[in-house]
Amino acid sequence: MRFFIDTGSVSEVEEIAGWGILSGATTNPSLLAKEDGEPGDIIRRICDLVGGPTSAEVVSDDAPAMIEEGRALAKLHEHVVVKVPFSADGLAATHALSDEGIRVNMTLVFSATQALLTAQAGATYASCFMGRLDDISIDSATVTEEIVTALRPGGTTTQVLAASIRHPEHVVTAARLGCEVATVPAKVFHQMLNHPLTESGRERFKADWQSRPEFVSWLRELVSKQPA
Ligand code: E4P
Repeated sequence: MRFFIDTGSVSEVEEIAGWGILSGATTNPSLLAKEDGEPGDIIRRICDLVGGPTSAEVVSDDAPAMIEEGRALAKLHEHVVVKVPFSADGLAATHALSDEGIRVNMTLVFSATQALLTAQAGATYASCFMGRLDDISIDSATVTEEIVTALRPGGTTTQVLAASIRHPEHVVTAARLGCEVATVPAKVFHQMLNHPLTESGRERFKADWQSRPEFVSWLRELVSKQPA
């Protein structure tokens, strides 16, 4: 499963992109509204940093306006994927934009039926919102599994993108169920790093090595002899 970062913050993208684990990014109007600066500059900067698909969302409700916004957003950067909220108009806009070769991430997908329509409209990604399902006591794992298994037999190329990720367990569930992508907030990426046995193991390795000062000197010399 590939990782996107779910954010409107350039500094968060800079940090997590440095880990070498990102394939793309997703923004949304709420995330961008929290940031200073012009949205276009932010989206372009994120595209450059992740070097891969970066979702930027339309906000109109009717298909013709969504299509106009989608075309304009797609021109911001070659990596822009147009995010379209799910609705009948959203499906029509997705179909039109996909026909023009513009990739669409259909967002706010909460059921297998919506995902099947999304796939037929030609979306590249169907964003299944796990956290928001759990918020209203609908089991996100069950719905995500229904979406993945409903899309696969039809030979669709639409990728299931696990979104609204609130904790590391959502990420593991998405991977286990066969989602192609999870879009993960920076905070959850940080939570995914941690394990007490890793911390204690690292400290132990370091202490044991340092108990042999000649080993410390040997490694320092080995490194210094390497060509620049
Ligand atoms: C996905 O692309 C959305 O931007 C995001 O995952 C929504 O997450 P939230 O439900 O935490 O707002």
